[in-house]
Amino acid sequence: MPAMDIVHYGDPILRKKCSPVSDFSNLSSLVDDLFDSMYEAEGIGLAANQVGLDMNLFVIHITDTDEDDTPRVFINGEIIVSKGECDFPEGCLSIPQVSLDIARPETIIFRYQGLDEEWKEEEFNGLLGRAIQHEMDHLNGILIIDRVSSLEKMKINKELKEIKINAEKKMSKRSLEKRFVL
Ligand code: NI
Repeated sequence: MPAMDIVHYGDPILRKKCSPVSDFSNLSSLVDDLFDSMYEAEGIGLAANQVGLDMNLFVIHITDTDEDDTPRVFINGEIIVSKGECDFPEGCLSIPQVSLDIARPETIIFRYQGLDEEWKEEEFNGLLGRAIQHEMDHLNGILIIDRVSSLEKMKINKELKEIKINAEKKMSKRSLEKRFVL
C-alpha cells in the first residue's frame, strides 16, 4: 500500500473541522494506507486530515510500551466524559522536531464507530487515552501549539516559522503539479 505525504503546520487542512464519515464501503484500503503512512513516519497515531483528507477518522498503534498493542481505527468519535488531568510530552507528525508538555484529562469515555460501522463506548487512559485526545484535536483543527502558553509557543517560534515556510512551498508545488495534469 502506498504511504501518503503527511501535511505539516501551515497547511489549512490542519485547521479544518473534519466532516463526518457516512460511506463506510471503501474505508479499509484507505485505513491500510493511513497505517502505512503512520508506520513510515514512525508515529503512533495519525488523523485523516494529516494526509489531506477531510474525514473524521484516525488510526492509532501503540508499540514498545506495557499497553495493549492492537492497531485501532476510530471513526466519527466523540469524547463524552473527561476525568482528571496530567502533563505529558507530546510530539506531532505535522510539527516535526517539536515536543511540548501538554496537560490533558487522564481518563476519557469515548464513543466512536469502528470499520464495521458499529458504535462503541469505551473508557481509555494512559498513552492510548492521550493519543485519542491528540488525534481528536487534529480532527477539530486543533494542534499541540494551541494547548501551551504563548510563552511556550514563543520558544519554538523559529522552528514553527521554518515548518510553515516549507509547508507553503510544498503546497504551491502541489498546485503547480495539479495544473499540468491533463
Ligand atoms: Ni499530531
